[in-house]
Amino acid sequence: MIDEELTAWLRGCFQRAFPDVPEAAQAGRVVLSQRPEFGDFQCSDAMQLARPLRMAPRQIAQKAVEGASLPGVVAKVEIAGAGFINITLENAYIAERACNNGIPARGAGRTMVIDYSSPNVAKPMHIGHIRSTVIGCAIDRLHRAVGYRVVADNHIGDWGTQFGIIIKGYRAFVNQEALAKDATEELERVYVQSYAKAKEDPEWMEACRLETVKLQQGDPENRALWQEFIRLSCHSFDEIFDRLGVRFDTTRGESYYQDRLGPMVETLEKAGLAHESDGAMIVDLSEAGLDVAIVRKRDGGFNYTTTDLATVATREEDYHPDKIVYVTDDRQQLHFKQFFHISRLLKLVPDSCSLEHVWFGLMRLPEGTFSTRQGNVIKLAALLDEAHRRALEVVRRNHPDMPDAEADALAEKVGVGAVKYADLSQDPRTLITFTWDKALSLEGNSGPYLQYAYARIQSVLDKHRAQFPADRPEAAALRLEDPVERTLALQLAQFPAAVVRATETYRPCVLADYLYSLSQTYSSFYQRLPFLKAEDGVRESRIRLCRLVGDVLAKGLCLLGIEAPARM
Ligand code: ARG
Repeated sequence: MIDEELTAWLRGCFQRAFPDVPEAAQAGRVVLSQRPEFGDFQCSDAMQLARPLRMAPRQIAQKAVEGASLPGVVAKVEIAGAGFINITLENAYIAERACNNGIPARGAGRTMVIDYSSPNVAKPMHIGHIRSTVIGCAIDRLHRAVGYRVVADNHIGDWGTQFGIIIKGYRAFVNQEALAKDATEELERVYVQSYAKAKEDPEWMEACRLETVKLQQGDPENRALWQEFIRLSCHSFDEIFDRLGVRFDTTRGESYYQDRLGPMVETLEKAGLAHESDGAMIVDLSEAGLDVAIVRKRDGGFNYTTTDLATVATREEDYHPDKIVYVTDDRQQLHFKQFFHISRLLKLVPDSCSLEHVWFGLMRLPEGTFSTRQGNVIKLAALLDEAHRRALEVVRRNHPDMPDAEADALAEKVGVGAVKYADLSQDPRTLITFTWDKALSLEGNSGPYLQYAYARIQSVLDKHRAQFPADRPEAAALRLEDPVERTLALQLAQFPAAVVRATETYRPCVLADYLYSLSQTYSSFYQRLPFLKAEDGVRESRIRLCRLVGDVLAKGLCLLGIEAPARM
């Protein structure tokens, strides 16, 4: 990647200029310039060296780059302002990098387990699960793209005391017709009703508890009901995953680990980490500033922490991952800190394995349609249907004569892409408000805008093929004579860096920002310069640039889990 190559070179320059100064060995970090008048890349490290070297930054910069050259790559090095080093690249080098901008295999030989989406059986996905699904899917794809072996595990909540409540409620209140229509919705209704009753009626509560005990002891009837709840729930989750283009390598729910929960608490006890308190087993982490984690309740039931400990141990045994990534909303931060801390104390994973909690804030959705009494519980299917409906309006407006089936398929891609992009283009940790106008806009930083940019490029390419069938733009030399062509090529060359940075920071928005800025540059390129009317040689070069932009947009959108239709 260009920034790394230049950094390695400049670092060498600093070391050669100041061989006896340890700080100089760290200097030379090069970043993309914010403004073209400062060259293509910039380094400001001379400022930091002023103190240890007791020299003026400008002089330091001067001395570092005196006589330095990188033939074929660097065209010009200038010292500016207080001591900035500005680097301008050779056009030929930019052109070569724009054409060969494959993603480096940074993760080759490494394994990541990613735990995302992970909704709960018999409850519809809430907004937290939706964001987890969309963000997790992008992180998953990004890691595969840089060469990781990825194990995507949907850790569904299919075990615990809530099942007694549902079983009891199901026997008493289920409406089969409603169940056939929308299983998760009906199961949730049953759960809510039974839960409310348990709160008021101690006998009902006790009966629910007994159902849970029966289930856990393997009672065939309760087991069968429980399995049916899982089947129905997974069926409706799958419908959503299909629409979102999400695929898991495995779906091991919490129940998969049930046999390991008791032994895990024993291990904790033997290690001196867990002790009894008020009938429950707890791990006191207050010295580490992490409060207390309950690992077995008074009634003998196990907790979320216990399950995650058993899960991480199993993942280590089965996959030997280099990292395990969990994607959930910010409300689970304490849980993950506690469970990571305990995992380290028990050495459930080797020190070389990193445990990462990628958390995000909740997204505010438009009032009304999508919220229920719980506030943030929204029906994802309804959200996607609404996106589809609105996208269909846009499609119909642009193509009144498109056949229905085609318009429908296109509307699904645009609508789902819009919802996903609205989520992915934001910093995951900020609180954002979703609005339809912004999500579906064809002008701003939106999914449809990028899809549209891609489709327009395809139509330019079609026209070119029709008019100049003998041209071979894929082999044309890039001519970067106009500044906008040069800027565009430099941006194309940055694609690998954007992908790697988005992957390493778990922030798909880095890639989204990159794609948006690339399409904006493309748009000025398109408006400023003739393509098909340009002279021979220039025309092929410009068409090649178009193709390269199209390829990067398609690849980038695909990494975000968004489709790029050829026509829009
Ligand atoms: N089922 C959990 C919930 O709905 C999310 C699980 C996240 N993964 C994990 N290993 N804890 O909140």
